[in-house]
Amino acid sequence: MSDLRVVLGLETSCDETAAAVVDLDGIRSDVTHSQTIHDTYGGVVPELAARAHVEKVSATVRAALAQAGIARPDAVVATAGPGLVGAVLVGLCQAKALAAGWDVPFLGVNHLEGHLLSARLGDDPPDFPFLALVVSGGHTTLYRADGVGDYTVLGQTVDDAAGEAFDKVARMLGLGYPGGPRVDALAARGDPQAVVLPRPLPGDLDFSFSGLKTAVRTHLLSADRRSPEDVCAGFQAAVVDCLVTRVTQAAERTGIPRVALGGGVAANRGLREGLRATGLLVHLPSLRLCTDNAAMIAHAGLLRLRAGQRDGLDRTARPRWPVGAP
Ligand code: KG4
Ligand code: ZN
Repeated sequence: MSDLRVVLGLETSCDETAAAVVDLDGIRSDVTHSQTIHDTYGGVVPELAARAHVEKVSATVRAALAQAGIARPDAVVATAGPGLVGAVLVGLCQAKALAAGWDVPFLGVNHLEGHLLSARLGDDPPDFPFLALVVSGGHTTLYRADGVGDYTVLGQTVDDAAGEAFDKVARMLGLGYPGGPRVDALAARGDPQAVVLPRPLPGDLDFSFSGLKTAVRTHLLSADRRSPEDVCAGFQAAVVDCLVTRVTQAAERTGIPRVALGGGVAANRGLREGLRATGLLVHLPSLRLCTDNAAMIAHAGLLRLRAGQRDGLDRTARPRWPVGAP
């Protein structure tokens, strides 16, 4: 095991420019700059995201180092995928340049592994083995985690990701982007029984959200269209039911009672309450650690670096990169 202790992590895979310093005791600094340039387009524009990362990445890194009170970390890591390739490359190249300049190790980190392990950064970290539900804008996957780097996919979405469904429903209702937090807020004021939507559960432990989104559209075009609050409450209840059902089934099947949540949708109030109500041992990251951040990347990187893993400076981005794959 390496004696490396303090890691600088960069995250630029989508629309947050983020840098954080994490050590063996936890988070020493965590700086996130959220891009607002995409708001008028109703979604993230990859080319604009990459350019905005170039503008902000140096200042974000400086702020993270200053807040941590260090001039030089023991290693530098960055998200190497999955994500928007042009955006990923900005953080990746910056991290490699910093590592080369400081003459410290460098490692490319899987963004989804960051989400998967994020609950282990909290006050109540789950012991291995645990079930991990990663629910983000691009992914909805249920894993069994037996150790760092030792993950098995138990189920995943066959069509839309949960976050994508939230964003699409928000767009139908004219709520803007990102939709998840806005649907979540309206749902809190609606009646979840007013609009009863299907709970699609495809084969095995998989998920499917595209039919649910279509059911919302059909409802919105119908004569008995309810208020946005009720539509959001009904939609959120259906998504949460599907996710919670699969987690419960996975716990029964594997005999593992511990479940960790990760990814932007893990911030959803309905999902957090729904999982707590299962009686399983539920480990929820703080809201800040649910949506994209660099602390989770630095943390996943620190664990892998301490296990001896390193990347060369020829490491490139991987827009599609399954968790646990080399
Ligand atoms: O993990 P994340 O920040 O970025 C990706 O890696 O994709 O996840 C972003 C997704 C978006 O689809 C956003 O609408 C959703 O997470 N999200 C939420 C909430 N906060 C963010 N969805 C439901 N409820 C929320 N409170
Ligand atoms: Zn993410």
